[in-house]
Amino acid sequence: MTTRLLYGISELTTNDPTVGDGSAMGRLTDAALILDEEAVVWVGPAEEAPAADSARDLGGRAVIPGFVDSHTHLVFAGERSDEFEARLAGRPYDGGGIGRTVAATRAASPEELLVAAAGRQRLLARGGVTTLEVKSGYELTVEGEVRSLEVAALLTEEVTFLGAHVVPAEFAQDRDAYVALVAGEMLTACAPRARWADVFCDTGAFSVDEARTILTAARQHGLGLRLHGNQLGPGSGVALAVELQAASVDHCTHLSDDDVAALAGSATVATLLPGAEFFSGGPPPSARRLLDAGATVALATDCNPGTSYLTSMTTALWLAVREMQMTPDEALWAATAGGARALCRSDVGVLGVGARADLVILDAPRAAHLAYRFGDVIEEVMTAHGPPGASRVPA
Ligand code: NIG
Ligand code: FE
Repeated sequence: MTTRLLYGISELTTNDPTVGDGSAMGRLTDAALILDEEAVVWVGPAEEAPAADSARDLGGRAVIPGFVDSHTHLVFAGERSDEFEARLAGRPYDGGGIGRTVAATRAASPEELLVAAAGRQRLLARGGVTTLEVKSGYELTVEGEVRSLEVAALLTEEVTFLGAHVVPAEFAQDRDAYVALVAGEMLTACAPRARWADVFCDTGAFSVDEARTILTAARQHGLGLRLHGNQLGPGSGVALAVELQAASVDHCTHLSDDDVAALAGSATVATLLPGAEFFSGGPPPSARRLLDAGATVALATDCNPGTSYLTSMTTALWLAVREMQMTPDEALWAATAGGARALCRSDVGVLGVGARADLVILDAPRAAHLAYRFGDVIEEVMTAHGPPGASRVPA
């Protein structure tokens, strides 16, 4: 393997507390990194760097781990800007528009779906995302969910089955039959094509009992568990996610003190999606309560056509800092190491020795510029394997 030395790094964030200043950010100034084709092989002060096969001076720029966007719905057709306009005029989001995207997605060809999803993925990758989760959930038939998962698998290895997004119109009179389909035939067809299962557990979507049925079946098929919970109002979604030891419960917009305590006492990550509240007009999630209680927090885009057509992790970070009172460092950690925790990954979101060689070079001397400056401060994105899925996706 050939090695590359990067030096002249004004500030290096590793998220490895055994490195540098000993903080959670694992930070060094005037630092260097050595990478091989796969991984970080050395990290430390620039003056102590050993020789490598090639060397590059970054000229006093900051380096951070690549962003880990642990919650997206990239596989969809159509758009719902008219709903956004209606919300601006005061109409609340209730999930009802999901059916419109289901109709558009079902009508699209696999090629159209792939080109649309890959385009969104490219925007995210250009903005520093080096690990990406992608859900199904806009087809809601056995064949359709399989098709969406196959598109997702061309973009990433972090593929999530979301057949339980909403009950589709054709099952409106018999929701029990749809829950049985999702937990039965649909799961059997989809589980081999996914790593995760997710359920939208909220008013207008699935009840806690329905979500428990589906997630319990998913676990029996070997899938890891995630949940959309407490987005539209208070409820027992967070409690269910903790009970089932889900990797992550996402949104967490309406939290009771018991929810916060349950998350703080568990390994379930609270994934906050500030784009969703910003675009749909809900209250910002209580990041401070979660962080102050000791819960693990991740930030993600939730890129979808209804609540958060967001293809920039930097924007999620700004929103977290300005709307959710996270510090720039807390937001950066949540958008990198936090996302990795939400995906149960220890090889990404960090830049310690052995981590995947996925990093972002900033056109700035400190990572705080991500939140401080309104605009793009990303100079270059470097990944061990190319942008996620890039080699398999047509340009
Ligand atoms: O994460 N809440 C459920 N799913 C998406 C929204 C889907 C849509 O409106 O199309 C979300 O916000
Ligand atoms: Fe979502």
